[in-house]
Amino acid sequence: MDYGPAPESTAAAEAWLATHDRHFGHFIAGRFVPPAGGTRFTSYNPAHRTVLAEIAAADAADVEQAVCAAEQALPAWQALGGHGRARHLYALARLVQKHARLLAVVETLDNGKPIRETRDIDVPLAARHFYHHAGWAGLCGERFPGLEPWGVCGQIIPWNFPLLMLAWKVAPALAAGNTVVLKPAEYTSLSALLFAELAAQAGLPPGVLNLVTGDGRTGEIIVDHPRIAKIAFTGSTEVGKQIRRRLAGSGKGLTLELGGKSPFIVFDDADLDGAVEGLVDAIWFNQGQVCCAGSRLLMHEGIAERFIAKVKARMGKLRVGEPLDKGIDIGAIVDPVQTRRIAELVAQGVAEGATLWQPDGELPAAGEFYPPTLLTDVSPAHTVVREEIFGPVLVAMTFRTPREAIELANNTRYGLAASVWSEDLNRALEVAPALKAGVVWINSTNLFDAAAGFGGYRESGFGREGGREGMLAYLKPAWHARLKPAPLSASVVAEAATPETAGIVAIDRTAKQFIAGRQMRPDGGNSLTVSDHAGLIAGEVALGNHKDIRNAVEAAAGAPGWSRSSAHQRAQVLYYVAENLDARRAEFASRLVRLTGCDLAGGEREVDAALERLFRFAGWADQFDGQVHSPPLRGVTLAMNEPLGVLAIVCPDEAPLLACITMCAAALALGNRLVVVPSERYPLPVTDLYQVIETSDVPAGALNIVTGRRAELGLVLARHAAVDGLWYHGPAEECAAAEREAADNMKRTWTSGGLAYDWYDVEQTAGESLLRRTVEVKNIWIPYGEQV
Ligand code: NAI
Repeated sequence: MDYGPAPESTAAAEAWLATHDRHFGHFIAGRFVPPAGGTRFTSYNPAHRTVLAEIAAADAADVEQAVCAAEQALPAWQALGGHGRARHLYALARLVQKHARLLAVVETLDNGKPIRETRDIDVPLAARHFYHHAGWAGLCGERFPGLEPWGVCGQIIPWNFPLLMLAWKVAPALAAGNTVVLKPAEYTSLSALLFAELAAQAGLPPGVLNLVTGDGRTGEIIVDHPRIAKIAFTGSTEVGKQIRRRLAGSGKGLTLELGGKSPFIVFDDADLDGAVEGLVDAIWFNQGQVCCAGSRLLMHEGIAERFIAKVKARMGKLRVGEPLDKGIDIGAIVDPVQTRRIAELVAQGVAEGATLWQPDGELPAAGEFYPPTLLTDVSPAHTVVREEIFGPVLVAMTFRTPREAIELANNTRYGLAASVWSEDLNRALEVAPALKAGVVWINSTNLFDAAAGFGGYRESGFGREGGREGMLAYLKPAWHARLKPAPLSASVVAEAATPETAGIVAIDRTAKQFIAGRQMRPDGGNSLTVSDHAGLIAGEVALGNHKDIRNAVEAAAGAPGWSRSSAHQRAQVLYYVAENLDARRAEFASRLVRLTGCDLAGGEREVDAALERLFRFAGWADQFDGQVHSPPLRGVTLAMNEPLGVLAIVCPDEAPLLACITMCAAALALGNRLVVVPSERYPLPVTDLYQVIETSDVPAGALNIVTGRRAELGLVLARHAAVDGLWYHGPAEECAAAEREAADNMKRTWTSGGLAYDWYDVEQTAGESLLRRTVEVKNIWIPYGEQV
């Protein structure tokens, strides 16, 4: 017996293409406009390599026109209010449902993915996204007081889920009150163009959603456009890093959803047949062209042989072919460029010693097809284990213990997703928190819902899409616009203070570095003279260099116990620090008076505010909880706040004690291990804290302090591969450099951009926005609820 053909009709899609004479312009201000430069490129159906349409290639003039339209639409869109926007988002959701079949067919023609997937996954999830965000539009003001939309958002999406990625980007942006200029990927522009046209017909105001089509060059124009306030990008890690560097110092909002090499972990007590089906969805869904594809199979050694036999048997049954056939499992690869890339990587894998297995069976003679592929006999050093292949290629390895499974799983620069298979829920829930990934699926894989955030750790990018975190990415604090530039750079002031002109007054002992719980001499043995507000020498601190930073980062990286300790324990330590600081309140206050020139009341005010912050964040430690989402599936999603890991904090000169304690207390409360560079101008109030820290049960390595030149130390921290996050308060050009250098390992950055924060203003500096910067949200999907 063989399968009969079950083709989906293309009549409606062909008719739609015909109404446009297979020629498309950009969609700007509610209508199609021809490209300013008259340039077009061809879009193909990858399954047959036939021409689908000619698509406009946007240049700077086109992007400018789109930005103008988005700007003009902004006031009225915002004036509509939450409920008004909710009605539009609801209409968009209905629209996707009403035109589901047409959208699914257009998507399959353009991308090559099986109609079964576009029909059952892409399109329904896109509709769900608009429904969910209709909810957010209405509730936005209430749920996010004090936040406002960015303005015009530039959105750049990939070709693997063209309509769904559009929905992920457009729905939250519009719900929050932004307007949009979106660029689909050059291989797959059609479903976005169809959507925009339908949205205009459904009454979406002109200019709220604008599309410009084109390739990476158009993307760059969007990224660089000075009047686009926020960029949201999904695509390759390489381009994501370029964008991060391009935007350094711009002050624009940025979210990046990048690549992955996600582990699929099968323990010996897993339901192996269930796991095989999961694996099919993990790596052969959408031809493996999925950022969170479970592309690294990790098997418990004892079951490996049996499991691989089952996997091979299942692979032999996967049907590769015409994507419009409803019985097809694996469709076409999006473009010959990608097929070549897959083939090259596989060939490299074999050359490096991998064993290749592919099921027998013919591939269609024409079109872009690649068979399901299994590579065994690989190790973590192999290219195919490290690199995102973005095709139907699985690499398989074994492990002996859960610890080894975790090590292998985390042995990657990415951190998008992970799948854990075990019938022992204790084991699965023990492994889940140890995985460095933004999403963990227990006994499941590739589950998505609009209410649950999606996004990565490490080089898989930052920011989340979906749910509360996704909305926050399209909002910014209203007070931010009121910030003023910070006073003169510290180093300039310090260098101006020479002993000859300043006179020498009461030189204190030279403060050392504080690393791994001990006061340590600086590597170079040098010190830095610190002057007070009047330019008089006030003391000396160690002049740290890159080796001190390296030691401090090593100490922080080697203290994971702090991240694993309970929130209650961390709170206790912060209370203890407060208690010991309080005992020396007068001494710290007078130190501040002498250094900064404030009066005694001012010094006391700063110490008291610092004490309040220690209490505040001790309080938050066990209150800044995650959430439990209830997606429309048999399961729950735990949205857990996890510490970033090793966080570097470069402190401002303003409020030198308060700023440092505020940031450290917040970051420590949520379990981060810190490397802190105190204010270059006024480091002494922080070096005075060493004894306070030593007597307060702060575990060695959790808090490390290196004094010295801010710009120099900050740059070392920005470049350090073991630093996960960087907060930088300093002059604008230093902040820009920090953001640029931090792109290499995709550190989570928060920089002041040369602006002065008011450290006494809780909303600005010690509110939930600060706490959100201390964590990454990991979404753990757990089966839950009745099965019958
Ligand atoms: P890409 O990252 O180049 O393209 C994604 C989007 O970014 C497209 O719209 C493209 O036009 C745009 N773009 C390209 N260069 C740009 C630039 N310099 N500035 C702004 N926008 C730019 O991905 P590509 O070349 O299509 O695929 C290459 C590899 O990237 C794949 O093999 C895969 O490994 C990875 N990839 C990962 C995706 C994910 O979802 N994680 C999606 C697409 C690709």
